[in-house]
Amino acid sequence: MENRDVLQAKSFINNEWVGHSTTNVLMVKNKFDQTPLATVAYADASEVQFAVANSVQAFQSYSKLSAAERRDFLLKLREGLHQEKDKFINLIISEAGKPADYARQEVERALFQLQAAADEALRVGGEVIPMDFGLGKGKTAHTKNYPIGPILAISPFNFPLNLAMHKIAPALAAGCTVILKPSPFTPLTALALASLCKRVGLPAGVLNVVICQNEEASIMLKDERLKMLSFTGSAEVGWQLKAQAGKKKVVLELGGNAAVIVDRSANLDEAAKAIAMGAYNYSGQVCISVQRIYVDHSVFDQFLEKFKHEVSELKIGNPSEEGTVVGPLIDRVHVNRIDSWVNEAKARGAEVLIGGHILDLENNLYAPTLLTNTQADMKIVSEEAFGPVAIIEKVQYFDEVIREVNRSRYGLQAGLFTNQISQMKYAQENLEVGALIINGVPGFRIDTMPYGGVKDSGLGREGIRYAMAEMLETRLIVY
Ligand code: SIN
Repeated sequence: MENRDVLQAKSFINNEWVGHSTTNVLMVKNKFDQTPLATVAYADASEVQFAVANSVQAFQSYSKLSAAERRDFLLKLREGLHQEKDKFINLIISEAGKPADYARQEVERALFQLQAAADEALRVGGEVIPMDFGLGKGKTAHTKNYPIGPILAISPFNFPLNLAMHKIAPALAAGCTVILKPSPFTPLTALALASLCKRVGLPAGVLNVVICQNEEASIMLKDERLKMLSFTGSAEVGWQLKAQAGKKKVVLELGGNAAVIVDRSANLDEAAKAIAMGAYNYSGQVCISVQRIYVDHSVFDQFLEKFKHEVSELKIGNPSEEGTVVGPLIDRVHVNRIDSWVNEAKARGAEVLIGGHILDLENNLYAPTLLTNTQADMKIVSEEAFGPVAIIEKVQYFDEVIREVNRSRYGLQAGLFTNQISQMKYAQENLEVGALIINGVPGFRIDTMPYGGVKDSGLGREGIRYAMAEMLETRLIVY
């Protein structure tokens, strides 16, 4: 985003900066040193209503474009993002506090998504339905898929570009318009993306980015002209929004307390390295960060030693410094929350194996932490930590560990380090999760794979093709 844009930060509606308030503003800060980055005028009720009407109107024409025209917009956006990579990387580092390596990965992932969506745009079709029998004798039928309508997308702070892109790219490919409400922690990346969309020629109203407070957001939630809510964020908020979303289709990508299992047959060096990164990179602020580690009793001590070594190598601190893995938490409230959860566990008998304390309150750093002797109902075990804290426990039997992993209200992804095919199969059949990653951490994600959770972790799937399926409705013709 140009400096000029930062100074004038407002919502982006109908390809214009919109927001008249000078008093009701959001202050966006650098998440490491807390220096102000921008102020953004909150949209008021009439500006939000304008965004809705504008998105509805833009849908009339955008949804009628040919697949090739939609593909071309996606490719132009990809090219524009490619040219402005550095700007987006720096925005993500500063407003999300994401370490530079991961910010770079995030932008690469967004580029990949745009390419994949451009490819998928050409595959929106339908199917021939056999019905030449019974009452259907002599008839032909086929379906065709149509864009569902304007979409309300709400995205979180932890991947300000890529998780917004998980909604925008498939929507553009499917022929839907989008109103994006980004996290108030990280609105600047979304605004920069909207401004880029205008520069590459996306028609006005196809992507509106609205920065508003909850009361104004509920106007969009309740407006029946928006046909779908696609939300990524916490389980608490997600399920509440669903309850208010009326007749909208709802897709929820929510949180988790992801588990990883290390069997005695696993390559312990590889497992220790991957799990240390999977638990602590970006300070665990990923829905599929490793939070619970279960290790076969016969290799527990060996694994723990290797794991401690891996954690001791992680660079902690300023996210803009090369090589940093563990950066700041998004807000001091969360540093204190994590600390209180760790203290609650300690008071109830948990043992601290690594860390266990605030590292630097000024810069919102919490020490990478590992606890053992925990109990299933401790918050640090049962709730989503979204911080650099994991628990590790010894397990005796494989069916016992599967039950333990399932003893969670969440079920997003899980990891299993093993060389035994029977365990892979047993875990696949019995784990209550959206995805099982073999010899990898639950944090593994390729942006085209189906992604989403069961139980409190969500509803529906993202991943370009799967997100598009949610955004399309099928109509049948019989003749
Ligand atoms: C998430 O935190 O929900 C998404 C993780 C990812 O896309 O890698």
